[in-house]
Amino acid sequence: MTTYRVGYFVGSLSSTSINRTLSKALIRLAPDDLEFSEIPIGDLPLYSPDYDADYPPEALALKEAIAASDAVLFITPEYNRSIPGALKNAIDWASRPWGQNSFDHIPAAVIGASAGQIGTALAQQSLRAVLSFCNARQMTAPEAYIRFSPEVFGDDGSVADAGTEDFLTRYMGEFRDHVERVLTVLPRA
Ligand code: FNR
Repeated sequence: MTTYRVGYFVGSLSSTSINRTLSKALIRLAPDDLEFSEIPIGDLPLYSPDYDADYPPEALALKEAIAASDAVLFITPEYNRSIPGALKNAIDWASRPWGQNSFDHIPAAVIGASAGQIGTALAQQSLRAVLSFCNARQMTAPEAYIRFSPEVFGDDGSVADAGTEDFLTRYMGEFRDHVERVLTVLPRA
């Protein structure tokens, strides 16, 4: 069986992040041929082009982690109707130095949770625009705007609502198929 290595980004630095809880559910419900490693973003300095000639170790580790991944998955909160700054900073680091964009042609998907009704829809639109410029090959459907409830999502990745569990299982199955499709025509080096 071919396995696909998925590097995942949690867009929140919160120690009680609901998006980290969602990531556990997604990993639990994913097809067996997906292997997951988190790509951490919390220790990166703020990006500046001054670093381009000599990236710091945290940024080199970020780029190496993406290079070692067959695909990336973004699980992000919405901050002020957009992407959290820490996540945008990580993407900026990964997209540079010029000509060494780590996201070029990589299979990607976005998902996010909030307690509010729109479930990170606007953050995901912002993120999709950024990833589009970075030439990532995004899964366009299904979209997944998750309204988080602590009664539904357990810290261990359990999902207490059957409809939600079915939807997330289908989402991860579609992601797996998307990764396979993209890699068929755009194999990772
Ligand atoms: C928020 N929150 C929020 N929620 C939302 O649905 N739309 C928004 O635009 C915002 N904006 C926002 C800005 C900032 C600075 C904070 C701290 C929070 C609420 C947010 O959804 C909630 O805090 C989630 O718990 C964040 O996800 P994590 O960090 O728990 O994964």
